[in-house]
Amino acid sequence: MQVLTVANQKGGVGKTTTTVNLAASLALMGARTLVVDLEPQAQAGTALGLNIPSSEVSRSLGWALQAYVQGIETDLPGIIYDRSTLLEPFETNGVLHLLASEESTMSRAQDLLVGAGFAATPILRRMLLSLAAHYDYVVIDTPPAISSLAAVGWAAGDWVVTVCFPEYATVRGAVTLAGSVKFVAKNTDNECRPQYLGAVLNKSNPPSNWKQQEVDVRDGMISSGLLPFVGDIRQSDLISRSFAGGVPAVLGYTNLPPGKQYAALMQEVLTRMDTPQATWEIAPPPFAEEESVV
Ligand SMILES: Nc1ncnc2c1ncn2[C@@H]1O[C@H](COP(=O)(O)OP(=O)(O)O)[C@@H](O)[C@H]1O
Ligand SMILES: [Mg+2]
Repeated sequence: MQVLTVANQKGGVGKTTTTVNLAASLALMGARTLVVDLEPQAQAGTALGLNIPSSEVSRSLGWALQAYVQGIETDLPGIIYDRSTLLEPFETNGVLHLLASEESTMSRAQDLLVGAGFAATPILRRMLLSLAAHYDYVVIDTPPAISSLAAVGWAAGDWVVTVCFPEYATVRGAVTLAGSVKFVAKNTDNECRPQYLGAVLNKSNPPSNWKQQEVDVRDGMISSGLLPFVGDIRQSDLISRSFAGGVPAVLGYTNLPPGKQYAALMQEVLTRMDTPQATWEIAPPPFAEEESVV
């Protein structure tokens, strides 16, 4: 089992969209995949077509976290939702499961985590390791903050991916986040050792249409060591519509640009997981392609 955490201190950059699309790509490839929604607003559920009914709030990650913080074991497999119906149009043996969020239970879990301090940071990691026989990949969506709740999410990951979009503040948010990830091993006595894997540029335009802002963001991503992936995810109505419609773009528009871009990004993520950092292909600086033609 490999655990990938998607994070940025900034909201609205596309963390949730990236989480569900990377997870759906893995499931399409045949992997047993679990999405973990650590964000009180429960948007990953929305993007996978599931909102927990009020009669089922105990079937949520927030509820399970509360129990674990208090030392009570829960039946984790029993509270997971199966969203594999989304894969029905495809020939795949993959599964797509969701450990869902619900606002009131997650907010209460957050309060308990704050009270428990660093000792509680490895809690989600431990919960997920108990599921290791069930899944090939886990993808975690995190809240946009440097908070106890978010820290539990980075600590649970083997890998952390950040997401930026063409606004410079998103680069600063990702840099802060990548810096915080470095302290996780120390704060958990080496129990959790997430490694930073790279940054996705989301909502980009084709490089031929880049404005100064996009040039600055790509430059900033490279110069501040965010290790941007080569495969950007372009701005597309198909992506925002599929988010609201509860079917990830990679499933709803598999053979259109959004589907292909996420599939390509997923391959890059998998390659980086398997190879030493020194060999990773990093996105080129702005205009590098044009310069090489001249
Ligand atoms: N590449 C994209 N093209 C168009 N809209 C996008 C794209 N990525 C994300 N969005 C939209 O932007 C909004 C914020 O994305 P979201 O994934 O919720 O961000 P976050 O989880 O970081 O807050 C959502 O409405 C989503 O549909
Ligand atoms: Mg989100």
